[in-house]
Amino acid sequence: MDAHISNNNLVSVNLVSFYSLLLLVLSAIFLYVKYGKRKNWPKNLPPGSMGWPFIGETFEYLKHHPSFSLGRYLQSNIRRYGKIFKSNLFGEPTIISADSGLNRFVLQNEGRFFEASYPESVVRVFGEYSMLSLTGDGHKEMRSIALNFMSSERLRTRILSDIEQHSLLVLNSWKDGLCLSASAEAKKFTFYMMAKNILSMEPGKPEIEKIRREYATFMEGVVSPPLEFPGTPYMKALKSRSEICRVIEGVMDTRMNEMIRHGEMKGYNDMLCWCLTESKLSRVQIVDLLLSMLFAGHETSTVAISLAIFFLGRCPKAFQELRDEHLGVARKKTEKGESKLNYEDYKQMIFTDCVIKETLRLGNVVKFLHRKATQEVQYEGYVIPRGWKVLPVLSAVHLDGSIHKDPQEFNPWRWKNKLASATEFMPYGGGNRLCAGLELAKLELSVFLHHLVLNYRWELAKNDEPLAFPYVEFEEGLPIYVFKISKHAHI
Ligand code: HEM
Repeated sequence: MDAHISNNNLVSVNLVSFYSLLLLVLSAIFLYVKYGKRKNWPKNLPPGSMGWPFIGETFEYLKHHPSFSLGRYLQSNIRRYGKIFKSNLFGEPTIISADSGLNRFVLQNEGRFFEASYPESVVRVFGEYSMLSLTGDGHKEMRSIALNFMSSERLRTRILSDIEQHSLLVLNSWKDGLCLSASAEAKKFTFYMMAKNILSMEPGKPEIEKIRREYATFMEGVVSPPLEFPGTPYMKALKSRSEICRVIEGVMDTRMNEMIRHGEMKGYNDMLCWCLTESKLSRVQIVDLLLSMLFAGHETSTVAISLAIFFLGRCPKAFQELRDEHLGVARKKTEKGESKLNYEDYKQMIFTDCVIKETLRLGNVVKFLHRKATQEVQYEGYVIPRGWKVLPVLSAVHLDGSIHKDPQEFNPWRWKNKLASATEFMPYGGGNRLCAGLELAKLELSVFLHHLVLNYRWELAKNDEPLAFPYVEFEEGLPIYVFKISKHAHI
């Protein structure tokens, strides 16, 4: 018994020593991180708090909030330190910019003073050859393929009719009085549209449905902590990545076999065909490019369409003016005896363009971007040290009351007769990395809205708001009741 007690005591003493030692080590690390390295920091860094060791203020920064607001973290830090401040995010010292001038400066100097720097965990999910991960010449090469593929010539002659066909496919399946998830419907439209243009995949085929399912898991992992344990969303995302790559490789093998058999690739006009015949990209590069294009091309547009449905659902005046514009377009087409939309019709959609701009300004599909300073940079009296991360927060400028009057209000009319300045409005980023699909995105939104407002009105079924996680999501999928309306009805 005595021996048992003394053994227990021994274990307790050992445990106490172990925890004391652990505490000592952690304190030393804390002090080193807090004070040791900082001795070398330049004096005129922007103000701000570095938060906890290692994790810094990452959790506060990523706390979700309605995407049409700044969120508590940004609001209180901007109030305290101004529009440029420092912190420790994602394990790295970081400058956060809510300043329109600095945001533009950072994006315009990509490749000179700054470069894209997405967290390693995100790069692993998208692949080392995705456009998000690449910098320098590698990035330039991929970008030129993407831009060629989405050239205005292609948009006019080919992609516009695909967009119309896929919009109608989704909208014609709706029934009067039905309650549906606007986000799920928007995703169906954008996903099938991209899958057709990238891999010539048609809705309903087993491979495309497999990729669609896998993308849902993939997306959850992209926005969750990079914990590599079985069953975590991040691990599931890595698994989904492999599955999606496997399907893309399968399609590529079939295509190459056809090419060997016939000596050419007949009947295809998609991005895969372009990569195989017009580029010198390796197999791995092609897979990463297609995977990231499929992702970039459908997730962002899905959110943008959902946001437009959300804001228009709360603003009957804007809905009515939008519908009147599209009734006008439809009337002219009837007079000319035309049925399908063409580029000239699209160019007449002036108020639609205002609605899209306002949706992107207030809804903030992309809240911030990841950059890193490649050399020490001076900006307005502040120093940004080499190697520090810089996060241009696009939403902070879009919601800045000194730039946009009544910034929380959905007011598409603010864009009438006004050019959107590249400093005050940058939903598509800027500089060398300006969204390669922005013209496609605008066309998709315009054509989808055309057929939507001509054929339906809708009511929001629940108070489901867009939340910035920071990736924007409607938690309940934005349920709406849809009501069929005649093209001639006045409502
Ligand atoms: C409303 C919809 C969209 C929004 C708000 C949006 C926003 C953005 C933003 C902010 C960036 C810059 C990322 C950075 O600088 O790190 C970007 C890049 C990109 N986007 Fe979009 N995007 C949209 C739709 C699309 C579509 C439909 C495509 C078609 C495939 C697309 C393809 C790309 C590509 C390939 C890049 C990388 C460009 C580069 O690194 O050179 N986007 N997008």
